[in-house]
Amino acid sequence: MHDRPAGPLRVAVFASGRGSNLQALLDAARSGRLPIEIVLVASDKAHAPALRRAEHAGITTLALDPHSYAQRADFDAELFARVAAAAPDLIVLAGYLRIIDPDALAPWQGRIINIHPSLLPKFPGLHTHQRALAAGEREHGASVHFVSAQLDGGPLIAQTAIVIDAADNAQTLAQRLLPQEHRLLIACVDLIARDRLVLDGEHVVLDGQPLRAPLRLGATGATLD
Ligand code: GRF
Repeated sequence: MHDRPAGPLRVAVFASGRGSNLQALLDAARSGRLPIEIVLVASDKAHAPALRRAEHAGITTLALDPHSYAQRADFDAELFARVAAAAPDLIVLAGYLRIIDPDALAPWQGRIINIHPSLLPKFPGLHTHQRALAAGEREHGASVHFVSAQLDGGPLIAQTAIVIDAADNAQTLAQRLLPQEHRLLIACVDLIARDRLVLDGEHVVLDGQPLRAPLRLGATGATLD
């Protein structure tokens, strides 16, 4: 990421559904708070609301149907070739609900991040809110991490946490967490866009120092510490 030309970070976003995290990035970029340009929004679902949000913002979209490909690897080869043509510096998986073929992923190592609604390494995969409740957790949260071939298992960048109330159900947890997810994702993309945060091998490096633990979204909500 260090040798890219000056100017906003070119970002491609992958989303399968609602796209509220995409919207948070779009809004932050448009307001001038976040030095990025979203160059492409890609989806595996042609009817994803995220694509409509992108169109509304005048951003190029790409929808490919996995069912049109014989194998996952074929779908991902085509998807990543089309994405590469848009020359993003960073790919953000924001509610993208597909596992990515390791061969397609390999060239993007260190340039692809994911937001996941749990305090990883707890609860990788689906139904995280329900699983956190069923496990009797006191705290729940969201994580942003570099993507590796292991599902929700790549090096952690930052996390945000909320306390679970006795009255919480999966829906209230998801609702309370979502605004913090948005702030967390913006803060992480901001660090990358300002060339402050990179992946070096297996290590996340911030301002030249390897992180010993994931960053935490600060009490003011906007900063990482
Ligand atoms: C978020 O909870 C995100 O963490 C997870 O999927 C959800 C996507 O929400 N990966 P949205 O599509 O961004 O609104």
